Amino acid sequence: MWDYTDKVLDLFYNPKNQGAIEETDEPGVKLAMGEIGSIACGDALRLHLKVEVESDKILDARFQTFGCTSAIASSSALTEMVKGLTLDEALKVSNKEIADYLGGLPEAKMHCSVMGQEALEAAIYNYRGIPLATHDDDDEGALICSCFGITESKIRRVIVENNLTDAEQVTNYVKAGGGCGSCLANIDDIIRSVKEQAAAPALNNHSVGVTTDIANSQPRSTKPLTNVQKIALIQKVLDEEVRPVLIADGGDVELYDVDGDRVKVLLQGACGSCSSSTATLKIAIEARLQDRVSKNLVVEAVEP
Ligand code: FES
Repeated sequence: MWDYTDKVLDLFYNPKNQGAIEETDEPGVKLAMGEIGSIACGDALRLHLKVEVESDKILDARFQTFGCTSAIASSSALTEMVKGLTLDEALKVSNKEIADYLGGLPEAKMHCSVMGQEALEAAIYNYRGIPLATHDDDDEGALICSCFGITESKIRRVIVENNLTDAEQVTNYVKAGGGCGSCLANIDDIIRSVKEQAAAPALNNHSVGVTTDIANSQPRSTKPLTNVQKIALIQKVLDEEVRPVLIADGGDVELYDVDGDRVKVLLQGACGSCSSSTATLKIAIEARLQDRVSKNLVVEAVEP
């Protein structure tokens, strides 16, 4: 059992601002959404913002999270923290501040606060029309941890912002190194390099950014899929990438039907036992299928 603070437990049992923000024709406001993580890595977060266009102020923030106690508490804390801030002010919110708001997180769970910060950035960049793929040039070429899709820039950032000193801490904050372990030596090199740069008088300010890399991701084909190919690929992704994770957590998913871009699934076991987990799971599966098969897919959970 993790040693959680009362604040973490309170926000887990009574999460604030859970759900999406409904589309609105209210004049002078715009919605934004940022998404981070993948169920293959255990956590996924979708953050929704409602922004007053003229002032750039965040009027409302809501979240949908697939993850553990600290992922839900961190997401809930984040939404409370950013309401009323301008987008520029919100961009300054660090993962450490999210953890501090919660009275601290177990170190092995700090990646949940990092996920919140990244989803916030992703939402704001999306709102501003800044393409995430080009936000940080390093993301393209410096994949350090292929198990979790973590880039060098992301590792550098978390080291600098949280004063991390060893590879185990890096694993706790961004999961890099927590799989096969083959990247641990590279992480040690990055920690050494950050220390050397910190000691140097003219420190280059590293450009840091958000990555939505997903472990072992493969580029989607640009050639349109036939219906048969699409259904086969959806089934393959569910069987190879989604079900093993769910089964390990006592749940499962079965492909029920595909109607155009609507993918109907049956959630089973622990996955189908409560309405909020069903909603977040649907979103996590949808994000996976959108990444792997087609960005137009919408997942619907059907009753058995
Ligand atoms: S490559 Fe990083 S843990 Fe496997």
